[in-house]
Formats: sequence, C-alpha cells, structure tokens
Amino acid sequence: MKLSLDTETRELTYTNDGSEKTVELYSKEAFEALSRHWVRLGWNMKHLYSFSWMGRPIIQLPDDMLRIQEVIFDLKPDVIVETGVAHGGSLIFYSSLCKAMDKGRIIGIDIEIRAHNRKAIEAHPLFDRITLIEGSSTAPETISQVKGLIKPGEKVLVILDSDHSYKHVAEELRLYSEMTSIGSYIVATDGIMNDLMDVPRGHAHWKEDNPTSAARDFAKTHSNFVVEQPKWPFNESELDQNITHWPGAWLRRLS
Ligand SMILES: C[S@@+](CC[C@H](N)C(=O)[O-])C[C@H]1O[C@@H](n2cnc3c(N)ncnc32)[C@H](O)[C@@H]1O
Repeated sequence: MKLSLDTETRELTYTNDGSEKTVELYSKEAFEALSRHWVRLGWNMKHLYSFSWMGRPIIQLPDDMLRIQEVIFDLKPDVIVETGVAHGGSLIFYSSLCKAMDKGRIIGIDIEIRAHNRKAIEAHPLFDRITLIEGSSTAPETISQVKGLIKPGEKVLVILDSDHSYKHVAEELRLYSEMTSIGSYIVATDGIMNDLMDVPRGHAHWKEDNPTSAARDFAKTHSNFVVEQPKWPFNESELDQNITHWPGAWLRRLS
C-alpha cells in the first residue's frame, strides 16, 4: 500500500488493489484508508500490548472493547465464554460490565494459566463472576466442563481469542457455536492477521490462515449463522465500519 498525504491540497493519494486513487483528505474514504494503515502500524508497534483494565493487562485494541461493550449491554448475556485468558484483562473487563449491569458471569479458558496470572486474577475484586478452566479450548474435557457450567435456556455470548490459526478457530467454531444462543454472537477475534502478512512482525501464510477466513467459511456451511458487524447504538458520524483487529469476526446466530 502507498499513502501520500497532503494537508495543503487536502488530498490523500493511495493505492488500493494496484490502482491509485486520490480522495479529499477530510473524507470517510481517506479516514478508512488511513485507519487501515494505522491499525497495521499499531499492531506492529504492539500498541495493543500497552493497556490494562482495572489493573490487569488486556491485549486488545480499545475500539474493539468499546464495541463489544455495546453488544454486551444490548444482549445482557447470562454467560460470556472466552477462550484465551493470558493476563486476564479481558475477563476482568467483561466481569466489570456484568457487575455494572448486575447480570452475567464469565467462563475463561486457556491452555496455560501461568501461576502469577492465576493468582492475580483470583485475587481481583471482580473475580467472583469468573470461572477459570485450564486446558485446550478444543479438548473434549474442556468442552464438557464448559457445557456443565451453562444452564439450559441461558443466553450465551462466545469470544474466541486463543490460538488464531484457521484450523483451531474452525474447530472452536464447530464446538462452541452450538453453545451460542440464538440472537447472540460467536466472535472469531484477531482476523486482522489477514492484513498483516507484509508488516515486519507478520507472516505471509496469515493471508488465509486466520480467524476471519475461518468465520467466513463457517458461515458458508452453517446457514443459521451470518457474518454481521453489530449495529452501533449511537452514531452521529458518516462512518459505519469498525476500526478493529476483528474484521469479519462477528457471527450472529439466526436460528
Ligand atoms: C491473545 S491471548 C488472549 C488475550 C486475552 N483474551 C486478552 O484480551 O487480554 C491468547 C491466549 O490463548 C492461549 N491459547 C493458545 N492456544 C490455546 C488453546 N489451544 N486453547 C486455549 N487457549 C489457548 C494462550 O495461552 C494465550 O494466553
């Protein structure tokens, strides 16, 4: 991608799929082209590794957290299942929302919950709504533990943030989609990998080997799910696309 920005002529020139385009700098199109590159640069700079939520590191782009907050407030799920715990920041974030709404609990799954992380998560004042499961998210024992923690009829939101390979996410989608409630979502996070194959910390195979491809293919074979960015509850701008590390992530269950 080539970007050339001129604040005097108020123009942005960029290449998209090989063809060059010049647009008004203060336009939706320019904002989207610049944001795309900002996200790529930020990912490479580990911008997402610079935040914490109520004391725990949270490895997320803040835009994604604000957007999922909108969905959680709208859905008010009984259970939020998240694969991929790391330092526990996202679990604490979801728990803080549940506490504020006085509704919901969280199940966090990780193949390895390091002792210092477990200690800090368990000691956190918002731990009371969280259950930790250590094991691979796709292992049969893990799936039966998760299912055992969900009561019939409960509203469930699922967030997949563990191993981001196509194969693993495809398997998680197969296993966790049946736990996802109708009207709720299963979110295959971090598909931004598909746009990072040429950045210094990226990999060429990420073009197809990523969660967005897994979500796209899952929707093709499961007509009861559709890839759909949740509507913004408030929008007085002309923008309509998330600035995100989770492109094509949101699979809404229709039936
Ligand atoms: C991106 S981090 C999770 C970040 C966390 N959700 C947050 O927002 O702060 C990914 C985590 O997935 C875990 N993981 C990798 N493979 C896994 C697997 N097969 N099953 C469960 N967890 C896995 C890693 O141990 C790592 O802690």
